[in-house]
Amino acid sequence: MAVALIVAAGSGERLGSERPKAFVALGGRPMVEWSVEALRAVPGVDEIVVALPPGESAPDGTVAAPGGEVRSGSVRAALAAAGDGDPVVVHDAARPLAPPDLFARALAELEQHPCEGAVAAAPVTDTVKEADDRRVVRRTLERDRLWAVQTPQAFRRPALERALDVDDDVLAAATDDAWLVERMGGTVRVVPAPRENLKVTTALDLKVAELLLGERA
Ligand code: CTP
Ligand code: MG
Repeated sequence: MAVALIVAAGSGERLGSERPKAFVALGGRPMVEWSVEALRAVPGVDEIVVALPPGESAPDGTVAAPGGEVRSGSVRAALAAAGDGDPVVVHDAARPLAPPDLFARALAELEQHPCEGAVAAAPVTDTVKEADDRRVVRRTLERDRLWAVQTPQAFRRPALERALDVDDDVLAAATDDAWLVERMGGTVRVVPAPRENLKVTTALDLKVAELLLGERA
């Protein structure tokens, strides 16, 4: 059976709210609850662990873990608090709109292909250029091959455990867990995901998420 880790321990500096971001009200409940509800509807997930900021408690029916200094530190702490579930699906509480079928598709991708990880990702719609320190464009990337990576991210447990067993500076450099698996030589596949699975970073994102959830109801 699979275990799900929700990382909810960030402070939400860019949102600038009083409470930590994952506990800010969204559609009438703390943001993290949307991810918990989605995960409860995913077949094969039998444990949900939530990495928490100081002073917050875990949603009903989930296991609490203390958050880490950096995001991947929170993933590591949540995994340490989990039972022996394998595979592991990691999700940011800051993506409250992820639907149950996206988790299921990430887990299915892992099962159906020889890979260590499967990550939700949306095709990039902007043209992406690389510029140097002086803002001079050095190259234009081939957009057909570019994906904006999201969570959920599903992993075979031994691969994720090995990937997270690194020094703090490497952990701090990781913007997602898949990168840690990639740098160990692991194969990671992308799973097409809707752009609606947005990350709430700023107040604008919170408004958009509120509107999209309102449309669902
Ligand atoms: N996160 C975490 N532990 C940390 C940092 C982040 O569990 N030490 C979680 C956040 O709670 C969030 C996800 O990782 O669900 C993605 O991080 P981000 O969107 O950057 O959230 P915050 O770190 O809270 O926001 P900010 O960077 O604006 O402070
Ligand atoms: Mg952050």
